[in-house]
Amino acid sequence: MASPQVFKEVVDMRAFSREQRREGKTIGFVPTMGYLHEGHMSLVQAARQQCDVVVASIYINPTQFSKNEDFGVYPRSEAEDLRKLAEAGCAAVFMPASLYHQSGSSSGGSSSADGSMVVGAAEAGDPDAHETWVSVDHLSQGLCAKSRPHFFKGVCTVVTKLFHIVEPDAAFFGRKDYQQWRVIERMVRDLDMAVRVVGMPIQREADGLAMSSRNAMLSTEDRQRSLCISRALTEAREHAVAQAADAATLQQQVAAAIAAGGGRVDYVEVVDAQSLQPLQELPGRQVLIAVAAFFGKVRLIDNVDFEAP
Ligand code: PAF
Repeated sequence: MASPQVFKEVVDMRAFSREQRREGKTIGFVPTMGYLHEGHMSLVQAARQQCDVVVASIYINPTQFSKNEDFGVYPRSEAEDLRKLAEAGCAAVFMPASLYHQSGSSSGGSSSADGSMVVGAAEAGDPDAHETWVSVDHLSQGLCAKSRPHFFKGVCTVVTKLFHIVEPDAAFFGRKDYQQWRVIERMVRDLDMAVRVVGMPIQREADGLAMSSRNAMLSTEDRQRSLCISRALTEAREHAVAQAADAATLQQQVAAAIAAGGGRVDYVEVVDAQSLQPLQELPGRQVLIAVAAFFGKVRLIDNVDFEAP
């Protein structure tokens, strides 16, 4: 098991990718924020199957967190992550210290008017601050954006930067972050980026909990309580498929089950799986039921999609 080459600098990461391309190899890219689990590994595996060389990135992107979110306590496990990536056959890992021009010595960034982290904030008077952002208008609204309005601007900006640095042929994302996957697909299409975006199925623990780095932050009690999310989603899908339920009924059913299970619901939405627009009548539609809920301070997301009969 060969260790992946680790690059901290943009110029070195790009040189590696360009060398691979000169040799005629295709590059599969798995962007992550670290604390890797089986879900990430399934992305690496898919990248290995579809491309000649796999590059992963580990970077906790400050601009997709607001000041009152969990940037500071997001779990980290660098050595363990590198071991897992080596075992999975990853050729290179990009681990930059920062991807944004910063003012002074600040490492975490400062807060903008909308609550998002802007590293080297222009409004703090730094003429050299990062001030270029990528956003996708409509798909980035609703669902997760309702309580995290800064999130997709931060994700689209960092993913664009990573694509420019790694120059992959294909990039692999988990469909647990369903809206993120759709938003990135749209960004790539609209901006003619030469990257194929691949959305991979959610990986679940044996008891049904969707795999997430944030699961590690759950208390033992909340870890048990959080199982109500996947149970509620499975029951709702079965209900919809067997009895042609309407969207409002499904939405109420899932929200009630999560509240009864001890979660604080952020949102439960029944939407069209392509446009992410709310649905009322389901028959014949490709449906997504998407959920975000807090257990303690930990915000978990999950979803199911299906074709309604
Ligand atoms: O899904 C994630 O882990 C992050 O949002 C991503 C895509 C790596 C961007 O920071």
